[in-house]
Amino acid sequence: MLRVVDHPLVHDALATLRDKTTPPELFRRMAVRISLLLAAEATRDVPGTPVDVETPLGPAPGRRVRGNVVVVPVLRAGLGMLDAVLELIPSARVGHIGLQRDEITAVASQYYSRLPGDLGASFVLMIDPMLATGGSAVAALDLLRVAGATDIRMICIVAAPEGVALVEQRHPDVHIYTPVIDDGLNDHKFIVPGLGDFGDRLYGTH
Ligand code: URA
Repeated sequence: MLRVVDHPLVHDALATLRDKTTPPELFRRMAVRISLLLAAEATRDVPGTPVDVETPLGPAPGRRVRGNVVVVPVLRAGLGMLDAVLELIPSARVGHIGLQRDEITAVASQYYSRLPGDLGASFVLMIDPMLATGGSAVAALDLLRVAGATDIRMICIVAAPEGVALVEQRHPDVHIYTPVIDDGLNDHKFIVPGLGDFGDRLYGTH
C-alpha cells in the first residue's frame, strides 16, 4: 500500500537532498528534517493511550504513544533517518538490518541482523531512504516477517516504480511512505533522477 506524502516542507528538503552541490553536513540535516516529516505521517495511527495531565489551569485530557514501537534502519543509509524517528518516539526500540548490494547484480545479501523481541506485538517502522530495485527492502521485510513482525510501515525518501511494484507484490500489507516516485532505474540500478548514493552523500564517502 503506497502513501505519497505530498507536503511542501518535504519537497523543500528533498530538493536540497537531490542537489548535487549539497555538502554532507547539510545533506545530513535535510535527511533528519525530511525523516521527521515522513515519520510523523507514517505514525498517524500509532497506538496511543488516554492520559490526564495537569496544566497550570487545571486537568486536561491527553494521549500518549504506547510503548511498543520498533524502528529498524537498514544499514547503512537508514541510519541517517534514525535520529529523526527517535526524536519523535524516544521510547522506540531499535533493530538493525545490514544488507549489502552486489554492485553488478544489485542482489542484496544480509551481513547483520539484530532485532528486538516481541515484534509481533509491535508497530514496526522500517527506514531505508532509497527504494530502488526493491531487492533489499524485500529482503529486510522478509527478515522482519520471519522474526514475527505483522504491522509494518516502511519510510523511504525516494522510490522507483520498480521497487514499489516489488514490495507491493511480495509484501502487499506493508505501507510504503514516500514523497515521490521517480522515473526509474539506470543500468547501475540507481534511481533516476534520484539523488545519487544516499550513504555516500550522508557520510562523504564518494
Ligand atoms: N541506493 C542509493 O543510495 N541510491 C540509489 O539511487 C539507489 C540505491
